This record gives sequence, C-alpha cells and structure tokens, in this order.
Amino acid sequence: MASILITCLLLMFIAYFEPTLPATVIEDLANLHPPSNFNTTIVSNCLKNPSLRYCGSSPMDLDAIFKFTIVASHLCNESKNPNCVESFPKINLRNRPKITPLYLSFTFFWKYCPVTILSIDLSNNSLKGTFPIDVLFCTQIHVLDLSHNGLSGDVPIQRLSCVTNLTILNLSYNHFSEIKISDSWFFRRFNSSCFFNSGILPSHGRYKIKAVMLLLGFPLVVVFTVGGLWWLCFRRPDFLPRVLQNERKFTTVMLKAATNRFSKKNMVGKGDGFVMYRGILRDGTQVRIEIYSNNRGNHREYVEECKVLVQLRHRNLVKVYGWCSNRNIRALVTEWIGRVSIETWLSESAPCWKHRYKVLVGVLKAMCYLHEQWPEIGCDIKTSSLLLHENGDPLIARFRVGENSTSNKIHRFGILVLEMMTDQTLQEEFKGDETGFVEYVKMLYPRKLQKVLDERMKLTENTFDETRQTICIGLTCADHQTCQQLSIGQIYNMIIKVHPRTNTY
Ligand SMILES: *[C@@H]1O[C@H](CO)[C@@H](O)[C@H](O)[C@H]1NC(C)=O
Ligand SMILES: *[C@@H]1O[C@H](CO)[C@@H](O)[C@H](O)[C@H]1NC(C)=O
Ligand SMILES: *[C@@H]1O[C@H](CO)[C@@H](O)[C@H](O)[C@H]1NC(C)=O
Ligand SMILES: *[C@@H]1O[C@H](CO)[C@@H](O)[C@H](O)[C@H]1NC(C)=O
Ligand SMILES: *[C@@H]1O[C@H](CO)[C@@H](O)[C@H](O)[C@H]1NC(C)=O
Ligand SMILES: *[C@@H]1O[C@H](CO)[C@@H](O)[C@H](O)[C@H]1NC(C)=O
Repeated sequence: MASILITCLLLMFIAYFEPTLPATVIEDLANLHPPSNFNTTIVSNCLKNPSLRYCGSSPMDLDAIFKFTIVASHLCNESKNPNCVESFPKINLRNRPKITPLYLSFTFFWKYCPVTILSIDLSNNSLKGTFPIDVLFCTQIHVLDLSHNGLSGDVPIQRLSCVTNLTILNLSYNHFSEIKISDSWFFRRFNSSCFFNSGILPSHGRYKIKAVMLLLGFPLVVVFTVGGLWWLCFRRPDFLPRVLQNERKFTTVMLKAATNRFSKKNMVGKGDGFVMYRGILRDGTQVRIEIYSNNRGNHREYVEECKVLVQLRHRNLVKVYGWCSNRNIRALVTEWIGRVSIETWLSESAPCWKHRYKVLVGVLKAMCYLHEQWPEIGCDIKTSSLLLHENGDPLIARFRVGENSTSNKIHRFGILVLEMMTDQTLQEEFKGDETGFVEYVKMLYPRKLQKVLDERMKLTENTFDETRQTICIGLTCADHQTCQQLSIGQIYNMIIKVHPRTNTY
C-alpha cells in the first residue's frame, strides 16, 4: 500500500493509491497517515518539479501536504478525469450540490492547487455566501464556471486580475453586487454573456425601472422646478434674492400674506371705492395697503400711474412703496403712518391753534411740491384722508394721477382751512352741505367770527387775529369765483405771512 502511494505521488504528486474499496474523502482524511519516508518523497518531487505549490513553503507542513494528496485524489476521481494516476486537468463538480461545499471547505487543498488543473466547473450547486475565493489559488486555470448558484457579495476583481490565463469565466445566475464602472477592464476581458443575470450588471428589469423612473422623474423634476420658479416669480417674489426682486411690484399672494389673508383685524379704514389694510411685509416693514374696487382704470394705466407715484418725495407726502395690479386687484402699498387722521386728531386731541396752523402749512407745502414738480398728480386733502405723523407733521396719503384742476385743489384747501378751525358741532350741522357751510362762515366773518371758531384752540388776542386772517384765506380759497384767480404759490405766501416764524419749523 505504502509503495503504491509513493509511486503515485512520484508520478502525479497527488494520486496516492488505487483504492480497492471505495472510501469517502472524510474517512480517508481521518484514517490514513503519511508513510515514514513521506518527507523524502516530497523533497524529491520538489526537486523534479519545483513549480508544485507545496514546494514553496518552508518548513513544509507534511501533514497538510499529505491531506492535500488525499483530497486531490478523490476530487480527481469525482471530476471524472480519465486517468487520475497521470493527469488531473479539470475539476468538474457541476450539478453536485451535495459534495461541492465539502471540497470547497478544504482550504489546504486549494492552497496547494495542482498546477495541471486548467478548468474548474462548480456550476449549479446552490452555493451560498460569498465568492469561493480559495478557488483563485489555482492561478493557472483557463476556465471557471460558477454559474447557477446563489453567490452574493463582491466579485474579487483584483484577485481575478491575477488569473491571467482565464479566458472563460461564467458568473451567470448569481446575486453578486454591481461592479463599478471604474473596473471596466473586467468588462473588456469578459463580455456580458459571462454575467447574464449575475447581479454584476444592472439587470434588464432594474434597468427598465431606472428608465421608467427617469422618464417619470425627469418631467416631474421639470414640472416642480418650473412650478417653483413660477410661484417665486409670480406669487412670492419677496422670497427671491433682493437683486432679482422688483421691489415696487407686489402680488396678491404677497399682500394676502402681509395682511393675514385680508383679515378684519388688519382692516384700518374704508372709503368710497377703497379699503385700507395694515400689513407687515416679509422683511418686517409695516405698510398701509389700499385696495381699490375696480375704478382705477385698466392695468396699464394703473401701473403707469403707480410708477409716477413711487417717485414722489416730500416730507408731507406718504411714501409710496409700490403697487399690485392684476385681474383681481388694484392696490397701492405705502409707508405705514399710524392710524391717526387729521379728523380724529381734531376731535380727540383738541389741538391748539399753533399746531393747526403748522398742519395747514405742511399740507400747503406738499401741494406746492406736487403742483410744481408733478402737476398731473391730484391729492385728497379731506381731514379724513390726511394723516398725522408722530412728529406732528401732516401727511397727504391719497393721490391720483389726472382729473385735476388747480382751482379745484385751491377750493378743497379752503374747505380744509375752514374745517380745521371751526366748531365741530357746526360742521356736523352742515354735513353734506358744503356750500351752506361756507356761506354761513362767510356771513359771520369777520365780526361774529368768534361764534364759529373752535373754542378749544384757546385763542389769545394775538392769535385771534391770526385765525381771522387764516379764515379769510380759507374763505377766499373756498369761493368758487376767487379760487380761479389764485395760484397755490400765492396762497402759500399769504399763509406764511400770518405767522412767519412758524414757517421755519
Ligand atoms: C472513482 O470514481 C468512480 C466512479 O466515478 C467510483 O466508482 C470509484 O469508487 C471512485 N474511486 C475512488 C477511490 O473514489
Ligand atoms: C524524514 O523524517 C525522518 C523522521 O521522521 C528523519 O529521520 C529524516 O531525516 C527526514 N528526512 C529529511 C530529508 O528531512
Ligand atoms: C441543475 O441541477 C438540477 C438537479 O440538481 C437539474 O435538474 C438542472 O437541470 C440543472 N440545471 C443546469 C442549468 O444545469
Ligand atoms: C499562462 O499561460 C502561459 C502559456 O501557456 C504560461 O507561460 C503562463 O505561466 C500561464 N500563466 C499562469 C499564471 O499560469
Ligand atoms: C462573448 O465571448 C465569447 C467567447 O468568450 C464569444 O463566443 C461570444 O460570442 C461573445 N459574446 C458577445 C456578445 O460578444
Ligand atoms: C454561462 O452560463 C450560462 C448559463 O449556463 C450560459 O447561458 C452562458 O452562455 C454561459 N456563458 C459563457 C461565456 O459560457
């Protein structure tokens, strides 16, 4: 027995005996022991053929080498090689799921992989787990078939690159991880028929899903981007960077956001054809928003009008920030100057004569500015529309481009003068009858003037004379005939003569 073994080892380095009774590889590994001169045999083998893998190691693990010869012998026979005494060219474990995992577990065998083996076929064995990397100790092979298994994880690309003579590789029908495009040499060397359904290449199905996702996703991305841009540009431009904003143009959505959807709480006034709201813009600025019912002309006219209004700059004119104009809404956005109108101020604060005079001068100054620089702009100088700034200055808050005659403006100013100086109960009596009111004051002027003046002005002898002069100016302006012969400048000169020092405030 021992001599046969040695002979075989000498001949083939692997096939160590011709068994008379078939035994399993496990039995042989358990029962057989190396002959006493095994070391000599190995050494002489290595001398003859140094390429044998077990020759490289030193000191040689005789026990492992002996076991290797046992496994090699069995595996050669299992692989149906025609003559295991002389050659072992292929490992063929195709369709052998029962024994293949066992042979794969003999790491000592693969480490010393016989150099004669050129082909390894492990296909269709329901192998699980990662790539059987030990197989790649057989760096000389030309063929490796691992198809039809359940292998997963990464394909050891680097190790495979060392198997230089490998020309036929079959990894089809496994569950490997996708290989990165950067390892493209791999795909040049082995074409797609080697990886069919292996997981290495994105499968057709997955490719389809990706294509479908792309087909659906791209339009969705486009739709959302366009939608988002549309929303930003046409609805909430205040969310755009400041450079891209047209700070003069407001949108309905912006106004809604500023006024909490035009809530009642934010409504601060209502008049003939307009509603006023207090609002807070995104940057925290408080504004007054005047919304008109549709009597402000068409969109183009209105925008042109607003473009003029935003250019107004005067201490006694409310600053116009911008406008909103579209199919549903016409609005003007101006600075927020509290809620105190001259009307409420007069009735609630009972201001002194000097302050009333200062307000009249302020209004007239703004009127002069408009008349000289923006003759096309008219303004509303009713006590209910004029606002009072915290610093005591009056502010004209409502304007309108066009329909505007100087004499009419002067007439309105005359009425304002009379309203600001006369008793409130008297005004109430003549409510709606302006002409009657003017006529009545005219009738009592000058001797019985005391009767109509607002007592709360607390006049002295000096100041009474000032009020008399002012009422005179007021009556002159309010008169439909005389007002046509006056200019705003003339009235201004008349007014400041009443109390020249006040003009320097
Ligand atoms: C070799 O294989 C044949 C059939 O393939 C079998 O009958 C024989 O018992 C095997 N010999 C050994 C030693 O396994
Ligand atoms: C082989 O092993 C025997 C003992 O097991 C030893 O006497 C002999 O010197 C060894 N020969 C070589 C070449 O190592
Ligand atoms: C795989 O093996 C099974 C039996 O184990 C067999 O029915 C089947 O045809 C084989 N498939 C391939 C592709 O060889
Ligand atoms: C590949 O084949 C060539 C020629 O047959 C041979 O010289 C070389 O050693 C082989 N490479 C390996 C890694 O076995
Ligand atoms: C893939 O390579 C094999 C040989 O390795 C060849 O027979 C087959 O035609 C190739 N297939 C493709 C699609 O290139
Ligand atoms: C790999 O195996 C599959 C399935 O057995 C087969 O269809 C394919 O042609 C094989 N590829 C190569 C390159 O042998």
